[in-house]
Amino acid sequence: MKRTHHCAQLTAADLGATVALEGWVDSIRDHGGILFIDLRDRKGITQVKFDPQDNADLAARAAELKPESVIAVSGQVVARPQGTVNANLPTGAIEVNGTGLVVHNIADTPPFPLTDAGGDKVNEDLRLTYRYMDLRRPKMLRNLQVRHKAAKAIRDYFDSQEFIEVETPALFKSTPEGAREYLVPSRIHPGEFYALSQSPQQFKQILMVAGVERYFQIARCFRDEDLRADRQMEFTQVDVEASFIDREDVYRLFEGMLQKIWKDVLNVDIATPFLRMPYGEAMNRFGVDKPDLRFGIELTDLSETFKDSAFKVFQATVAGGGVIKAINAKGLADLTQGELKNLEDIAKSLGAKGLAFIRVQGGEWKSPIVKFFSDAEKAALTERLGIEDGDMVFFAAAPWEQACAILGRIRLESAQLLVKRGKLTIRADDWKFLWVIEFPLMSYDEEQGRFVATHHPFTAPVPEDIHLLDTDPKAVRGQHYDLVLNGMELGGGSIRIHQPAVQKKVFEDVLKIPADVVESRFGYMLKAFSYGAPPHGGIAFGLDRLCALLCGTTSIRDVIAFPKTQKGQCLMTQSPTPVTAKQLKELHINTVIPE
Ligand code: AMO
Ligand code: AMP
Repeated sequence: MKRTHHCAQLTAADLGATVALEGWVDSIRDHGGILFIDLRDRKGITQVKFDPQDNADLAARAAELKPESVIAVSGQVVARPQGTVNANLPTGAIEVNGTGLVVHNIADTPPFPLTDAGGDKVNEDLRLTYRYMDLRRPKMLRNLQVRHKAAKAIRDYFDSQEFIEVETPALFKSTPEGAREYLVPSRIHPGEFYALSQSPQQFKQILMVAGVERYFQIARCFRDEDLRADRQMEFTQVDVEASFIDREDVYRLFEGMLQKIWKDVLNVDIATPFLRMPYGEAMNRFGVDKPDLRFGIELTDLSETFKDSAFKVFQATVAGGGVIKAINAKGLADLTQGELKNLEDIAKSLGAKGLAFIRVQGGEWKSPIVKFFSDAEKAALTERLGIEDGDMVFFAAAPWEQACAILGRIRLESAQLLVKRGKLTIRADDWKFLWVIEFPLMSYDEEQGRFVATHHPFTAPVPEDIHLLDTDPKAVRGQHYDLVLNGMELGGGSIRIHQPAVQKKVFEDVLKIPADVVESRFGYMLKAFSYGAPPHGGIAFGLDRLCALLCGTTSIRDVIAFPKTQKGQCLMTQSPTPVTAKQLKELHINTVIPE
């Protein structure tokens, strides 16, 4: 029996046709001996009927079927009787009167309901253990299709812009500058290791030296990071590099790419050019470098107001060079004690000494600290924060970056609490794209006692700031840009340093990497650059994050066919696993397992 149609295809136009369908038994219903089977394939559902009055033997065999069994059915397309037409189904006007049945496989009882709602309720570990069942759910299949469409739109777009896709190695050399890497032992070079590529960064720059001019790759990357909803140890980048371009070219090019993806996948027109915001402004107003612009609750700086305050915590913070910042979570005065405690714990986990607040209820300011405030301070607060009855105000007194980070997080949490109360609406399809620009090129790492690259050491300084490299490295801005969408960092990149002398200076004089280490790690790159490197720049987007946003989910695991758990395990294949002593010996490895 060979399939003639798929399960979303047959309509009243096919009445009388003899057809064959193949797929999974979505459900079986027995109506007084007549069996109705919803047969499902990847496209949809068709109802099949086995009537014992037509063929008792066939109906008896159909009665043995279990949900999720795989079958082939042949028969004639007939109209459903009046009153049983299902207007919600493309095939809802017809059914197939079964006259042939091949049972490919009887299925065991599914470990959880395979509906969208049913699967959403079960523990994710169960879904990951039986991922092949989870992926049968309509939503999961749709996510895979969205991912395919997005990847296709990306390839079509770059092809139309004359980029070529070039593959770069996954087995790379260890470059301990970036995130923690996965090491791969070499069998033929005892004691030596490769590292799995964290990104094609160095290869793509070398491709520019090679004269490729316009490169892209949908590349798998590996980073041994702590996993989260938006982070996997192995993930996919849309990685791009081009020669003879500047920042404006980059913005235009990638706005065009995102426009095409949104059009092809969602049939949504997004407006360009995107908003741009300097890093400092993003931090000051939203407390993060990836602001969610779908709602307000912006941070207000009150350092000037409180610099001579009788509240010593505030006064001393300003005196010590720190800042006082506040947000007004409008309408959140009904925060419960439990919710408040939770916010305090979050603030403390970010190093806050406390989370001062004012609850504005019944015309009263309920707060452990307002007793210290002068009338002038209260008036300034009311004015700057637009305080009204029903509001909840939070304060952070800390060094600038920390105060921003604390309130940035409290802002997000407050928004969620307001959403829960129906006082704020945040729509998943309210697309707020943003370029965050003018990041500091370097930041000072207290632990290491030296400057480290904010992004990576290949980012070029903003030309006007180059003279500050020796005198005030902290003030040097990088030609770096991040693309942010609804609070998620989708991509990041930069215009690169293309002069070997400048690159060497950044490595040795600014980042203080010893010359011999620079030579062993990056010598090949400096050498390549000395043979004629064009000015170049690029960016990489997280394809998983992009797809998660397109699918309206907050977890990238939902758009990866076989993701790892937060603990880095694949529950379906049960990896990682121990290996045999023989394998280890061959790789010249001794393991020391902690107690
Ligand atoms: P960066 O490290 O910012 O830049 O990475 C680029 C984008 O990749 C995605 N991403 C991840 N997605 C899922 N899981 C992870 N663990 C993960 N880590 C990163 C993010 C991020 O914005 N070579 C540079 C790019 C360049 O300069 O061209 C780079 O890798 O969406
Ligand atoms: P204290 O004077 O330490 O009892 O603090 C009074 C209030 O201010 C408490 O609600 C603390 O949570 C809060 N608080 C203390 N230090 C800070 C700080 N650095 N930033 C914000 N709030 C603080």
